[in-house]
Amino acid sequence: MRQKNWLVFLIIFILPFLVWQCGERQPYRHGEILYQNFCTNCHMDNGSGLKGLIPPLAQADYVAADPAGMACIIRYGLSDTIMVNDTLYNQPMAGIKQLTDFEITNIINYINHAWGNAYGYTSYETVKSRLDSCKN
Ligand code: HEC
Repeated sequence: MRQKNWLVFLIIFILPFLVWQCGERQPYRHGEILYQNFCTNCHMDNGSGLKGLIPPLAQADYVAADPAGMACIIRYGLSDTIMVNDTLYNQPMAGIKQLTDFEITNIINYINHAWGNAYGYTSYETVKSRLDSCKN
C-alpha cells in the first residue's frame, strides 16, 4: 500500500514537473548549444550580428522569408551580396561541414523560436530535401 502511494505521488507531482522542466522551458536546447558553439562568434548570442559586417538572425527579414533556406547556408556557406533589414552585407560565410542534417534542423528551430522570432517549426524532412537540392 505504501509503495502504491509513492507511485501515485510520483505520477501526479514529479512526472509533470520533469516534463515541464525538459520540454516547455527549453524545447530547443540542443539547437541552442550548437548555436552557441558554431554561430555565436559571428552572429552573437542574441542573434544581432554586427551591423554592416555580419547579418542578424534575430528579427531578420532574410531569415523570415525562408527559414528552411538556412540549411544550405549553414552547410555550404554564402558568398553573396545580400540585403538584411535594409543593410547590405558582402563578407563571405564559410560552410560548416561537420554538422549533420539533424543538428542543422535543431539549430534552425532554435533560431526560429529565439529572440522573439516566430517562424514556426521546420521539419527534419524539409531540411533534408533542401540540403539535397543544394548539394555541390
Ligand atoms: C565566421 C563568421 C560566421 C559564422 C561562424 C557563421 N556565420 Fe552566418 N554569416 C556570416 C556572414 C559574414 C554572412 C553574410 C554572408 C554574405 O553576405 O554572403 C552570414 C550569413 C548568414 C545567414 C543569411 C543572412 C542572415 O543573417 O539572415 C544566415 C541564415 C546565417 N549566416 C546563419 C548562420 C548559422 C545558423 C551559423 C551557425 C551554424 C552561422 N551562420 C555561422 C558569418 C558567419
